[in-house]
Amino acid sequence: MPWFENAVIYQIYPRSFKDSNGDGIGDLNGITEKLPYIKSLGVDAIWLSPIYKSPMKDFGYDVEDYRAIDPIFGTMEDFDTLVSSAHKLGLKVMMDMVLNHSSDKHKWFQQSKLRDSKYSNFYIWRDKVPNNWKACFGGSAWTYDPERGQYYLHSFLKEQPDLNWHDEQCRQAIFDEVRYYLDKGVDGFRLDVINAVGKDPELRSNPFMFGETPRPYDMQNHIYDRNTEYTHEYIRQLRKVIDQYDDRALLGEIMIQGKGQMEQSASYTGENNDELQLCFEFSLVKQRLKASNLRKVAGKWYKLCSLEKGKTPCWVLSNHDVPRAISRAGGKEPIARLLAVYLLIQRGCSVVYFGEELGMLSKDFPRKEIQDPLGKRYWPIHKGRDAERRPMQWDFSENMGFSTAKPWLEPNYTKRWHLLTVESQETDRDTMLALYRALIKLRKERKEISRCDAVFCDSLPRGMLSYRFVKDGKCTVVVLNMSSRWHRISLSEIAPGCDGMEIALKTYNKVNLSIENGEILVPPTLGVVLTN
Ligand code: NOJ
Ligand code: CA
Repeated sequence: MPWFENAVIYQIYPRSFKDSNGDGIGDLNGITEKLPYIKSLGVDAIWLSPIYKSPMKDFGYDVEDYRAIDPIFGTMEDFDTLVSSAHKLGLKVMMDMVLNHSSDKHKWFQQSKLRDSKYSNFYIWRDKVPNNWKACFGGSAWTYDPERGQYYLHSFLKEQPDLNWHDEQCRQAIFDEVRYYLDKGVDGFRLDVINAVGKDPELRSNPFMFGETPRPYDMQNHIYDRNTEYTHEYIRQLRKVIDQYDDRALLGEIMIQGKGQMEQSASYTGENNDELQLCFEFSLVKQRLKASNLRKVAGKWYKLCSLEKGKTPCWVLSNHDVPRAISRAGGKEPIARLLAVYLLIQRGCSVVYFGEELGMLSKDFPRKEIQDPLGKRYWPIHKGRDAERRPMQWDFSENMGFSTAKPWLEPNYTKRWHLLTVESQETDRDTMLALYRALIKLRKERKEISRCDAVFCDSLPRGMLSYRFVKDGKCTVVVLNMSSRWHRISLSEIAPGCDGMEIALKTYNKVNLSIENGEILVPPTLGVVLTN
């Protein structure tokens, strides 16, 4: 089985993980220093948000040079050290490839402005604004460039011009940047907004629709600036590049509208499994994290990415763009523990966002302290993404051990912060950190989890979620009581045909729980995993 088909991947937002040189910003040497900690979680891989040379208008998602490391993060040598140290520990490394757009400071764009250079068509230029497309970060998607005397397309900031994937030379240049890192031994890529590449060649206007927010961008049905037949074709070409190397993975970020569109995300695995091996599925980001929603989403995701179809579902609840799942769940740790079970006891690939394993919380910043361009533009409708990018909470030293200097974002000193550090959780058996480790260990030990799609038990009371993995007489059964009531559950219901079931894990060790006469009485907001 390729490594990514049963992997737990740990996402690091490099600016916020660990500062090694006292400038208040996390860096590559900081990550290298903390690799043993990451390894101790039991995860298989890390993925890093962008570390390339960048003017940092969108904190690295505006790449000026794909082949250079931004000095804020270190040097290419530091990067090579990080990769080789990770490999020595048996950890894979995935990078974030931002291929829909570059920075306006990228050499390609600078040259493209000159028209008659070989980069002329690397971006999307028009004499007049050709359509109604909006930029995701505000305003029109078209900005006039006086030097070239034309408008160029940008799906995000005006400093992030969109690359023209229809141009053969441009595509080949992009693939060369990908090869550069494949040759360095990187194990795969998280692909930024990959369903936005290969836009409608006629640049037709998107139709109107009622969106989830009044933001003009959300009031359009994005059928022409995303998800075209070309998008799929170009992704197939990219997959071919990857397939020339051993065991490398593509994990796509698929922008969706509203809470649905799971089919859209799944479509990027390819009709013949020839596109991305893994796709993020974000519909739970927009829904209440309650049992019935988890049931619906997981059931559908298993169908769309089934074993039978040869696909690998990828599970994720938090990242650097959305408030942390625990905060979306009202900051309640008992619920976050249930979500951890849901995230990690699944077939496929599960992605943990740094600090999630501690129960770190998102907390907004006052307006004057906002750094994120999205927050600056849309406050107070959207307060930006700084809240989920606050520094990792290591210990009780200055700035929670993140940095000896003033951090680029203030650490989250909530009332309970002293309980939410690695230092405070390392020693106790019943912490969130201990739970993450135990869940990952169990997931690895129980082979049936990676060998079949979950089967759901749908006869339980409201607020309960139960699913199981059964293979060759071995069973793993998850029971999550997300309600505020006690529920007595019979094993014959949740684990039919499974003999000798025992409690393998509880979201709180300290809670007394036993199987009596084939039943368990599950307390409110408690999760249990049973095995035989
Ligand atoms: C998605 C990234 O996750 C986000 O942080 C970024 O701002 C946009 N893509 C634009 O690259
Ligand atoms: Ca630093």
